[in-house]
Amino acid sequence: MAVTIDLSGRVALVTGGTRGVGAGIARALLAAGAEVVVCARRPPDHPVAADGRTARFLPVDLRDPAAAETLFARLGKDHGRLDTLVNNAGGTPYRLLADATSGHAVRVVELNLLVPLTASLAAYALMREQRGGGSIVMIGSVSGSRPSPGSAAYGAAKAGLESLARSMAVEWAPTVRVNTVVLGMVRTERTAMHYGDEQGVAAVGRTVPLGRLAEPAEAGDACVFLASELAAYISGASLHVHGGGERPAFLGAANAHPTT
Ligand SMILES: NC(=O)c1ccc[n+]([C@@H]2O[C@H](COP(=O)([O-])OP(=O)(O)OC[C@H]3O[C@@H](n4cnc5c(N)ncnc54)[C@H](OP(=O)(O)O)[C@@H]3O)[C@@H](O)[C@H]2O)c1
Repeated sequence: MAVTIDLSGRVALVTGGTRGVGAGIARALLAAGAEVVVCARRPPDHPVAADGRTARFLPVDLRDPAAAETLFARLGKDHGRLDTLVNNAGGTPYRLLADATSGHAVRVVELNLLVPLTASLAAYALMREQRGGGSIVMIGSVSGSRPSPGSAAYGAAKAGLESLARSMAVEWAPTVRVNTVVLGMVRTERTAMHYGDEQGVAAVGRTVPLGRLAEPAEAGDACVFLASELAAYISGASLHVHGGGERPAFLGAANAHPTT
């Protein structure tokens, strides 16, 4: 039996949905029939669209709590409801801890942990008042559960984000479900910045058990699933979209035995 997910009549907000992973998530939600709003500081270079439908863009700097509050008020007023929030805006530049200022770490934690907290609170205020409740999806990272040299504050924030999601899932049940999509490496417009040319990207892809980086659409599929009725009993969960994760480093060492 074919399973199709129909999100028509649902309203979704994807933070940072103007490019990269977020645009992939927004397109997947559009393709599933949802009315999609994307927000970021700058408008997208190209309209975020799928199946002849385009996401609405709202400008905001989510680090500014008052601006974030205004955004959610506008959403409630214009769209009448909010069914899904995807807390995608995030990321970090590469910087070793000893080379960075503490201000840098604060900004990274602000964007990757506090911004999703503030946005989720605003979303909950809308979702708790409407029939059917809602679904919040955090975009996490494998950096949250393994050492992350060069992005330590980011890894710590992403670990905190998963913890936050689990607590929200308990506090806000049964009205709102809260889950985390934990991503490995995803191929975006910015991939070359991190991994170099196509050869470099392919070499990095070979370190992943499934042999490649994820596409933004694959992060989107996970979000569509978590937003849908198929996930009606899933809350407080972390869904890993990482191609099998990382092989243990010892497998590359001399005489290592794969079954130990
Ligand atoms: N790409 C990967 O391999 C990967 C791996 C694991 C996890 N992730 C996670 O996936 C998410 C997206 O990553 P990405 O690689 O697609 O990042 P990206 O290309 O840098 O996109 C980030 C998005 O967030 C927006 N944004 C940044 N700061 C903002 C702010 N203060 N207020 C509002 N919007 C803001 C950006 O737009 P503006 O700059 O115009 O504001 C942009 O739309 C992040 O949470 C990241 O941690 C990505």
